[in-house]
Amino acid sequence: MHVTGAAEAARARMVADLRSHGRALSKPVQDAFAKVPRHLFLPEIAAADAYRDEAFVLKCGPDGIPVSSSSQPAMMAIMLEQLELGRGHRVLEIGTGSGYNAALMSLIVGQEGKVTSVDIDAELVARARASLDAAGFPDVKVTCGDGGYGDPGGAPYDRIIVTAGAWDIAPAWLEQLTASGRLVLPLSLCGVELSVALGRGDGNWRSSSACRCGFVAMLGAFARPQLALRLGGPDVVLIQIADDGDVDPEAVRGALAGPYVEMETGLQTADQAELADLDMWLTLTEPQLRRLTALNAAVRVPGELLPMGGMASHLEDAGHVGIAALLPGAAGLGSSQVRVRGYGPGGEELAAYLGARARVWAGRGRPGAADVELTVWTAADTPPAAPGPVVLERPSAKIAVGWRRRRPTA
Ligand SMILES: C[S@@+](CC[C@H](N)C(=O)[O-])C[C@H]1O[C@@H](n2cnc3c(N)ncnc32)[C@H](O)[C@@H]1O
Repeated sequence: MHVTGAAEAARARMVADLRSHGRALSKPVQDAFAKVPRHLFLPEIAAADAYRDEAFVLKCGPDGIPVSSSSQPAMMAIMLEQLELGRGHRVLEIGTGSGYNAALMSLIVGQEGKVTSVDIDAELVARARASLDAAGFPDVKVTCGDGGYGDPGGAPYDRIIVTAGAWDIAPAWLEQLTASGRLVLPLSLCGVELSVALGRGDGNWRSSSACRCGFVAMLGAFARPQLALRLGGPDVVLIQIADDGDVDPEAVRGALAGPYVEMETGLQTADQAELADLDMWLTLTEPQLRRLTALNAAVRVPGELLPMGGMASHLEDAGHVGIAALLPGAAGLGSSQVRVRGYGPGGEELAAYLGARARVWAGRGRPGAADVELTVWTAADTPPAAPGPVVLERPSAKIAVGWRRRRPTA
């Protein structure tokens, strides 16, 4: 394996940074990151830059939205830990992308194990094949197809990992796992994405861990319904609206272009991560509201409009539409309280409602992603009468969103 000295040093720094993130990094995962030359999977950038803890876009669709990326190493490490991958395991990856994650997994499962990876994009499959060969991983099997159907030829698998944003839980993933198998996937719940690990429960599947994430959307037969609207002006903003339901694009554009109100919630949050927990909790406990994500189309980062994303009601009705978004405290303005901004005719009422719900979140001990507990049934199963406060119906699955109990705080 040929690596430049600069790349090797950058790789060692990346591993040290991954270890210092505060999360436990197991020895096999750490060793894999230390050994696999990521720069051979990202030949278009300078070798040392390939070891930055960042996602790199590999390909965009016709609308400019990324359809493939090499994921951020810190997120990959979290998912590999969730997967609990061991020596000798047979593992299936949905979403080959660069092939880098397949190579990491190949080192973890060793000669006794087997990595199979599926990507829906033939061009990316060819690219990953070439990179895997160049990096010394000829045994990883890469195939082109809709990973929603798994890869039945190699089943059963000890582990399945999905690395494209899923919305439904494809039956093949559950069917192609062994009895003690584990599925890790980025799952969109009400427009919020969580990486969850699922294992078999009693007539269902239960999550053992969950963590916030953001992935390119899965394509193919199990793709999530999502609408993208462009707001014009000098800085084009892309609004993505999650899930099914009526939307009047002009109602959304009109609300976001018009005046807004801002109000304080009376709550302080420790940091951005806690604010993200609040945002997630509000979204997951109010499934009747639609989730909006705003991206500055040029740089693809959240802008001023809805910095944390937003929640909306009556998106189909220009006379009643309301969009509300959390804002961090503005210390410069003399307040460090979390605020809520409301847009559109229904914006003030929605913002006040979310402010009240934010205080409920605080009273429940400020739950975050680590407190989410999912129970999943296939579409054919009948869950118990009241499986949880929120049950999301998907074409192939029913997903109950529950919460671990926390000690209430003020
Ligand atoms: C975030 S990238 C994967 C990153 C990859 N694991 C790596 O190490 O670079 C997501 C990939 O999923 C692929 N994808 C999207 N929908 C798919 C589907 N239905 N089946 C298989 N692959 C899919 C995309 O083409 C894209 O390459």
